[in-house]
Amino acid sequence: MSNVRVGIVGPTGYAGMELVRLVAGHPRMTLVYLAGSGARTGPLDAHLPHLHVLADALPPVEPLDVHKAADLCDLVFVALPSGESGRVAWEIAQAGLDRGVKVIDLSGDLRLPPEAYEAWYGRPPLPREAIAQACYGLPERHRESIREASLVANPGCYATACALAVLPLGNLLADVKGPIVFDAKSGVTGAGRAPKEHLHLGELANDVYPYRVGQHQHTPEIEQALGGAVRVLLTTQLLPIPRGILVCAYIPIPPDEAPMVYDRYASFCEREPFVRLLPDGQLPHIKAVNGTNECHLAVRWDERSRLLQVFTAIDNLGKGAAGQAVQNANLMFGWPEREGLNLVPLWM
Ligand SMILES: NC(=O)c1ccc[n+]([C@@H]2O[C@H](COP(=O)([O-])OP(=O)(O)OC[C@H]3O[C@@H](n4cnc5c(N)ncnc54)[C@H](OP(=O)(O)O)[C@@H]3O)[C@@H](O)[C@H]2O)c1
Repeated sequence: MSNVRVGIVGPTGYAGMELVRLVAGHPRMTLVYLAGSGARTGPLDAHLPHLHVLADALPPVEPLDVHKAADLCDLVFVALPSGESGRVAWEIAQAGLDRGVKVIDLSGDLRLPPEAYEAWYGRPPLPREAIAQACYGLPERHRESIREASLVANPGCYATACALAVLPLGNLLADVKGPIVFDAKSGVTGAGRAPKEHLHLGELANDVYPYRVGQHQHTPEIEQALGGAVRVLLTTQLLPIPRGILVCAYIPIPPDEAPMVYDRYASFCEREPFVRLLPDGQLPHIKAVNGTNECHLAVRWDERSRLLQVFTAIDNLGKGAAGQAVQNANLMFGWPEREGLNLVPLWM
């Protein structure tokens, strides 16, 4: 099926506006429906002037009507704040069941079992049947289930960068003794567009600091994405830059496996269209992946500490959100995975 009719709920948010950019450039997608809270309606470029170049291809932004979304669209991306997004995605999926409408939710609402969601997000979960219907959308782990899914829970940005640092270990993960430590840093768009005091330029500039240590909601998501066999310690830190995530994972692999570990990463990355193992000696840069769906990865065995260091860089709005959502849509519709995602990074 080509020329799939696409809706985006939340196009005035950071993830939503990146979806608009990617969908508008996708050869098999046509934007037919844009909807938000009702606070910002009408032409999207009236709210986001940089999208003026797409004005002729954009429907006006309307207050959300779940049934209209399900009637007009073959595919709907939902990019609302957690707590709202999963419910809307589930309602659209229900309303569009007969028509086979596919829905991708970018929030955390459908990613975790109800008990874990309540514990880490601090709010009541969605009904168990909604969560059970959603397929966790990390293509590098769940590609075949995503192809069959009608409702996908798109992974979190930190969770994606951390999981991709470890998944190439494959069955060696079972031999990892002790927790995996992730030192993770993100640009400020990861926090969304709604104004908050700690995100003002005066607070953010010339500073880097840890936040939600030991409490970040992506902790159980990473453990789940790694199959539940390993404990993780995640330190999230805020960078005074707009976008991008850099992770360093410290992994206690059995030392006698160290000589073979680079080959494990190399064979994983050869199979994966968006995960690139950097040549030995090179380390990732956020700027080299910004604006794309790529993940750059580097591996280093540290003989002195006997720890494996794995670095990943992704764009939180790309492979961490909108790019990954389009990759999932490509899988759900049976298209080549890189369709619409051959994007040149924004180095400057
Ligand atoms: N930012 C990232 O890097 C990132 C990465 C991965 C996942 N995500 C997830 O993606 C989702 C969106 O994140 P974001 O950063 O794009 O957030 P954001 O910048 O705060 O945007 C939120 C969007 O939701 C709309 N909205 C808010 N309340 C609504 C309601 N009750 N009904 C309909 N629309 C409503 C807003 O539209 P109005 O203008 O109409 O108010 C806005 O378009 C979140 O669940 C987030 O966790 C974000």
